[in-house]
Amino acid sequence: MKKALGLLALTFSAATMAAPSQWLTVDNEVLSKIRPKLNKSVQIGFSSQGASVVNLTAAEIEQLSHVIHEDLHRCGGFVQHDSEEEAVNALTSQGEMYFAKRAIFADYTIDQGQLVRPMVSQVQEKSIRDMIIKLSTFKTRYYKSQTGVESSQFIRDTWAALAKNRNDVKVELYQHKNWPQPSIIMTIVGSERPDEIVIVGGHADSIAGFFGGGGSAPGADDNASGISTITEAIKVMMANNYKPKRTVQFIGYAAEEVGLLGSKDIASAYKQGGKQVVGVMQLDMTLFKGTVDKDIVLMADYTNAAQNEFLGRIVDEYVKVPWGYSRCGYGCSDHASWTANGFPASMPFESAMNDGNKNIHTVRDTLESSGGDAKHAAKFAKLATAFVVELAK
Ligand code: BES
Ligand code: ZN
Repeated sequence: MKKALGLLALTFSAATMAAPSQWLTVDNEVLSKIRPKLNKSVQIGFSSQGASVVNLTAAEIEQLSHVIHEDLHRCGGFVQHDSEEEAVNALTSQGEMYFAKRAIFADYTIDQGQLVRPMVSQVQEKSIRDMIIKLSTFKTRYYKSQTGVESSQFIRDTWAALAKNRNDVKVELYQHKNWPQPSIIMTIVGSERPDEIVIVGGHADSIAGFFGGGGSAPGADDNASGISTITEAIKVMMANNYKPKRTVQFIGYAAEEVGLLGSKDIASAYKQGGKQVVGVMQLDMTLFKGTVDKDIVLMADYTNAAQNEFLGRIVDEYVKVPWGYSRCGYGCSDHASWTANGFPASMPFESAMNDGNKNIHTVRDTLESSGGDAKHAAKFAKLATAFVVELAK
């Protein structure tokens, strides 16, 4: 049994006398700060995933809790376990995550220029902009709202119309158990390796205000931009009658804004079903150019390092804009659901984390407040197209 820690310190402060020692997993950053303050040097038993197993007395745990709150001004950072074995398990059970970040899932050579270059040159800013306007015209795309359901149906219809001449492409709504808004999944069945799947997704929902549902939530940047970027990549692929060897899926996730709910459902179903996901790209916010000297910023956390490096080379080869790395610092979007389920994911983002659009989650998240055009998003539509063609070959 794991227990979140705030309570733990209280439990033990009452019984400090012959207090038995306890097994904990502690965040390594927190651990490095408290070690000098502890009476004896703390032995680190096992370390993985940025956390370590330690054995502390009740008094030391109290001190740990104190340091976390008073010196580090944060909560959490450690978890209590009933035994050393359980503590080690807690870290190794995240092996899935470790694998998703470090393993190499595909051959990342870039050699599809003949196919990619013409497609990338056909990406149009105007059609991305038009789609953003249509999506942000829904009063809200909140996951519990009627317009949230209707906006998902609109995305389904838009994607289906682009694929109307293809019998190897289907577009479906993915219903979730606990809320009305469906996710949208478009599938191009692979011609040679249909069981291997390349995914490009973004969230379809929006949110604004403290309680989320009531007011207007245009969500132009967050995330009409990502869905419209994906829609443009689909448009170009269909216009060129592109047929991948691996299966390609485009996904509009429901209910991201309330805890990555739609993508959690889907990624865990894929894991349960033993699906082979070769690579995932998340497009969440592609509209606002916030960083002067970088156009495409790859989130380095909750993502696969080798695939990120592959994306960097794709930007150099086909998009030809400056790129770099940043970090969300937490599982900030649907890529984290894939990573948590053991799949390789990346998140190319509009700016460095600190330069992001300050109007998201408000009624002010409009096309106008992001500059009035979709030029920035067009770079991401090129990237998504090149990623699919180079990976689904
Ligand atoms: N698009 C945002 C994530 C984001 C915001 C990334 C700013 C980088 C900079 C996403 O829609 C979102 O709002 N995510 C939530 C987290 C989620 C677990 C509910 C967030 O960031 O609070
Ligand atoms: Zn958001």
